[in-house]
Amino acid sequence: MVDGFRPALTGLLFVQNLYTAQMLWIKTLHIVFVASWFAGLFYLPRIFVNLASVAPGSVAERARLLLMAKRLLSFSHLLMVPAVALGIWLWAGYGIGWGPGQSWMHAKWLAVLLVLGYHHACVKLLRRFEHGENRRSERWFRVFNEAPVLLMLMIVSLVVVKPSDWTAFLTDWLWGLLVLVAVGALAWWRRR
Ligand code: HEM
Repeated sequence: MVDGFRPALTGLLFVQNLYTAQMLWIKTLHIVFVASWFAGLFYLPRIFVNLASVAPGSVAERARLLLMAKRLLSFSHLLMVPAVALGIWLWAGYGIGWGPGQSWMHAKWLAVLLVLGYHHACVKLLRRFEHGENRRSERWFRVFNEAPVLLMLMIVSLVVVKPSDWTAFLTDWLWGLLVLVAVGALAWWRRR
């Protein structure tokens, strides 16, 4: 009992020490930039939905939507850099998520890579629209549009719930996520 209690207490004190005012301000900025970056990742595919349904003769509408998408994408690039850099600062500079019992951070890295992949896919899709080469349907973009919602839900729940090992993933995290996804899917399906 005592053997297990002491390291746990030491670990707790160590983590408490990381929560300095400076670190909390970095975390504040991290959350603000992440939220703004995601606003772009939510809205850009909505523009793609509109672009995919523009009538072939509507040249002006197509040009206007393309301009909106290009501006939004450049703005999202700008926001992505500080969002990720501040996250790396929190991780590397303060050691949050390092060491044993931090499986949530490994899973977060994986989810962040998927977000970066999604961002990259948006760049490629916009290029196809610009060259008139899009072959995807409006419906496909509507489904594509839901991916960042799922990724954000995964990441935010990971950093808040912080499952420490793979057992905790099942007992503390996965069921909660599945309930939220099921409720979200139901709301989405009823709205159609
Ligand atoms: C390279 C990318 C990223 C790294 C290295 C990173 C790292 C971190 C670290 C170390 C923390 C501090 C956790 C704590 O205080 O316990 C944190 C907080 C947070 N991160 Fe990230 N992050 C990244 C990207 C993201 C993304 C893409 C999102 C959202 C989708 C996100 C959402 C959050 C939130 C909401 C918090 C606050 C959690 C809390 O205080 O409870 N992060 N991040």
